[in-house]
Amino acid sequence: MNKRSVLLLWAPFLLSHGLTVPRHATLVSDSDVQSQEYDFIVAGGGVAGLTVADRLTEIPDVSVLVIETGPVDQDEDFIYIPGSYDLQPYAWPSLTTEPIEELNNRVFDAVIARVAGGASVINAMNFVRGTALDYDGWESLGNDGWGWEDLLPYFIKSENFTEPTPQLAREGNITWDDSVRGHEGPIQYSYPTYVYPGLGALYEAALHIGIQPRLDPNAGHNAGIFEQPFAIDAATWTRSSAKRNHYDPAIGRPNYHFLADTTVARVIFDETQAIGVEYLPSAGGSTSRAYASKEVLIAAGALHTPQVLQLSGVGPRDLLESLDIPVVSDLPGVGSNLQDHTTLPQVYTWTHSITPNVTTFITNTTWADEQRALYDVGLPSVWSVTKHLAPKFVFVSYEDVTAGTAYANILADAEEHDPAESLPSDVHATVLAGYAAQRQLIFDEFRDPDLAIGNLGWDTDTNGQLFSVKPFSRGYVHINQTDPLANPVINYRTATDPADFPVLLALFRKQREMFAAPSLAALGPIELTPGPTVQTDEEVLATMREILEPSNGHQCCTAPMMPLDLGGVVSPELKVYGTAGLRVIDVSIMPKELSGPPMATVYAIGEKAADIIKAEYGLLE
Ligand SMILES: Cc1cc2nc3c(=O)[nH]c(=O)nc-3n(C[C@H](O)[C@H](O)[C@H](O)COP(=O)(O)OP(=O)(O)OC[C@H]3O[C@@H](n4cnc5c(N)ncnc54)[C@H](O)[C@@H]3O)c2cc1C
Ligand SMILES: *[C@@H]1O[C@H](CO)[C@@H](O)[C@H](O)[C@H]1NC(C)=O
Ligand SMILES: *[C@@H]1O[C@H](CO)[C@@H](O)[C@H](O)[C@H]1NC(C)=O
Ligand SMILES: *[C@@H]1O[C@H](CO)[C@@H](O)[C@H](O)[C@H]1NC(C)=O
Ligand SMILES: *[C@@H]1O[C@H](CO)[C@@H](O)[C@H](O)[C@H]1NC(C)=O
Ligand SMILES: *[C@@H]1O[C@H](CO)[C@@H](O)[C@H](O)[C@H]1NC(C)=O
Repeated sequence: MNKRSVLLLWAPFLLSHGLTVPRHATLVSDSDVQSQEYDFIVAGGGVAGLTVADRLTEIPDVSVLVIETGPVDQDEDFIYIPGSYDLQPYAWPSLTTEPIEELNNRVFDAVIARVAGGASVINAMNFVRGTALDYDGWESLGNDGWGWEDLLPYFIKSENFTEPTPQLAREGNITWDDSVRGHEGPIQYSYPTYVYPGLGALYEAALHIGIQPRLDPNAGHNAGIFEQPFAIDAATWTRSSAKRNHYDPAIGRPNYHFLADTTVARVIFDETQAIGVEYLPSAGGSTSRAYASKEVLIAAGALHTPQVLQLSGVGPRDLLESLDIPVVSDLPGVGSNLQDHTTLPQVYTWTHSITPNVTTFITNTTWADEQRALYDVGLPSVWSVTKHLAPKFVFVSYEDVTAGTAYANILADAEEHDPAESLPSDVHATVLAGYAAQRQLIFDEFRDPDLAIGNLGWDTDTNGQLFSVKPFSRGYVHINQTDPLANPVINYRTATDPADFPVLLALFRKQREMFAAPSLAALGPIELTPGPTVQTDEEVLATMREILEPSNGHQCCTAPMMPLDLGGVVSPELKVYGTAGLRVIDVSIMPKELSGPPMATVYAIGEKAADIIKAEYGLLE
């Protein structure tokens, strides 16, 4: 093991900053970084980056530098108090998609984070795993050690679940299986302490349309109705972000350096060996270099990990050559395979009311203030619920939405379809082969009555929500210039596969059926969008092209862990093919979208990545 004297390097930092006890993982400046070499450099201080940096620096003589484009948050209420939620201040500014053809060429904001802790600082905090079949599918794509049974210990290691009170559990129909939940890890999670009365009507409507209660969506199967757990610390009822749980606790850890407001421009190679990175102030300025004696770990998120790789000469040869970037490793899969959860917003107005609801919280300041007084003394309060959101969701399987309907043939049609027709015509043969292999897994998932292919919900007032979580379509991310501060070109290519619109239609019909169930019908819902005049499939489809959103912030899969001949970018050890000393450790390595939101899984990926790396260097205790 390389016994570098990090403590000696630490001393000048103390002097130059006049600090005695550092409050966090050590914030450093460019000049501090210049005076040393690290074992590991992490590009991107988000969920995965901070998890791995924290775990590696548990070993005192391993030194890690994390470089993050964004700033460090200031513990603002709008981040940490769920009822004050506002993501805008730390969202990535001015990042947009190309016009999306099947969505009437609309252009969208690509919503991601730009802050220490990544999207865990600005996300909705839903803490839900994928299903056993999701991860077993990864394994069957050639990734030994990544099945459900392998990942479960890492989910458990990552988290600390706090039970709701018996009264809350009873009132909210909140259930869980304690045997799959961790109690000693750093991510604090629990259930909001307030239940909107309207959620009872949603629950009853779900039962009415044939959906069963799900004991625990984190136990390997997720179709059903349940209350979602949230990454909220039950001791304080504040957000448990990666900044809180993998950065703040590293108090006085001199071997864990964090360089904020700084963008990694590219990986420096010696032949194919990664030896460091070039970086520059995110506001612009001159470029510096930092060196890593062991490895460079890329964790810039699904939209920027491919950018950093491509700028470094790791990506599709044609693309790199067109920009005069020397090719280090020709990997057609870098930036391919972009996926997200497609979102259909619906708007309702109601003839009767069931209050308080999400709108009451915003408009009735008397009630909000009463609730705030309860929150401030740690009592159950609506301020523990993410603003604008209701925690109950109906996770539906393919069978749930198609049995006995005109949509029963979607799967058969999809199986007949030539996968090549769903990808751009210049697709590389290996990427196409990987996509064809993924489709086979999606077919298996559609056949599983316990796996959700969509999520239906209601915010308790004007907003219906519908997410299609198993898309067949694939998008891309690629650079079109060599400026590391320029945005990459992003296209979700939503609904370019002919199966995706029918799936959305089936989900939407089920959602309408749910709103017509007695418990919700009693409130007199009037659908404003799409609206009562929109009835035939053709009419619904036309409206969808106008109102669908291509993303739910769940971008993934752009540096997939798959074999090289399937267009993969990293091996099961997360090593980038054709290079040494370089891994990708973030949400980009997922081969395909999960049947649930990604954050809990990204924490587990980080935990496993840290163990893989420790094992390789003989650092596992
Ligand atoms: C608005 C929103 C709501 C969401 N809600 C949920 C939810 O409720 N539940 C859930 O499970 N998931 C949710 N997600 C998704 C989840 O947060 C992400 O999947 C997860 O954070 C991905 O982790 P990551 O480490 O791969 O990337 P991130 O957490 O995005 O971190 C990547 C980091 O890299 C930095 N970076 C980028 N480029 C560079 C560069 N060149 N140099 C240095 N740093 C760079 C970025 O600034 C960012 O901080 C949501 C996401 C968003 C955006
Ligand atoms: C887990 O949560 C409980 C309740 O909030 C807390 O008392 C305990 O200290 C936490 N444990 C860890 C390891 O964070
Ligand atoms: C809980 O379940 C009961 C019985 O099905 C139902 O009547 C009630 O509305 C539900 N409440 C919530 C908040 O889910
Ligand atoms: C939600 O509450 C608002 C105001 O508190 C009320 O106007 C509205 O009708 C309610 N909506 C429902 C569906 O009950
Ligand atoms: C607002 O909340 C207060 C306190 O709970 C309640 O008494 C009042 O009726 C509410 N006002 C409206 C318009 O709903
Ligand atoms: C790169 O693409 C973006 C839009 O995605 C565009 O605004 C920009 O002009 C392009 N730059 C070059 C050099 O082609």
